[in-house]
Amino acid sequence: MIGKDQIDLANVPNHVAIIMDGNGRWAKQQGELRTFGHTSGVEAVREALTAAGEIGIKHLTLYAFSTENWNRPVEEVNALMDLLVSTIMNEIDSLQENKVKLTAIGNISSLPDQCQNELQKGIEETAENDGVNLNLALSYSSRWEITKAFKEIAKDVELKNLRSDEINESIVSSYLTTGDLPDPELMIRTSGEKRVSNFMLWQIAYSELYFTDVLWPDFRKEDFYKAIIEFQNRERRFGKTSEQK
Ligand code: IPE
Ligand code: IPE
Ligand code: MG
Repeated sequence: MIGKDQIDLANVPNHVAIIMDGNGRWAKQQGELRTFGHTSGVEAVREALTAAGEIGIKHLTLYAFSTENWNRPVEEVNALMDLLVSTIMNEIDSLQENKVKLTAIGNISSLPDQCQNELQKGIEETAENDGVNLNLALSYSSRWEITKAFKEIAKDVELKNLRSDEINESIVSSYLTTGDLPDPELMIRTSGEKRVSNFMLWQIAYSELYFTDVLWPDFRKEDFYKAIIEFQNRERRFGKTSEQK
């Protein structure tokens, strides 16, 4: 049995990013509508967040809605936006109790007003919490983010706030929406798909990638621990040889 006791607490990642995938297929297996899969996925979010808190992970980024997801049927998009609002409303007390700090990345101004308002409220109310940082990627895609960063860098060079010869990797990182966050050491994708679907392309340059067949609504603490244990058993060489480490 996989358990928390198998985790080396001195070597947990600072930042874990999850592509929460498989809600639609999970619902289909139950003979239900796709939206039922999304609502059922909220329990998996609670599990991942609790598990992260228990082992001392500082940042948990969840890919909840991509730029490309706007192309889904309008009913599904609306259901996802409503779910975001109701989930923040329902979970806010529990976030406070657990000292979770809510943040968000993505093109937030493209979300419906009610989502933006609820999200803003959640972010402000939890801003002082010092537990896990739950970072939601909403209307997010990496190419959107990198393009936006290019524009802002160009503008700052134009305005002479930045010299082109000053631009280095950490400057580029600081212009991304994840500017305040360390890169994720571990990226998890559920549902068996082995792709990154426009998620954190810059930030995962040296992340360990973990793919599981578990569909997101079935994802439980044990599945999270399993990913952490596998992460801890990987050798991260960063281009060096094993002997150099
Ligand atoms: C992930 O599940 C949730 C979102 C992308 C919003 P999917 O809705 O992609 O589920 P599948 O991949 O179709 O099973
Ligand atoms: C990625 O899942 C986006 C989120 C989990 C929010 P998708 O289901 O949208 O990705 P593709 O279409 O399989 O690449
Ligand atoms: Mg999917």
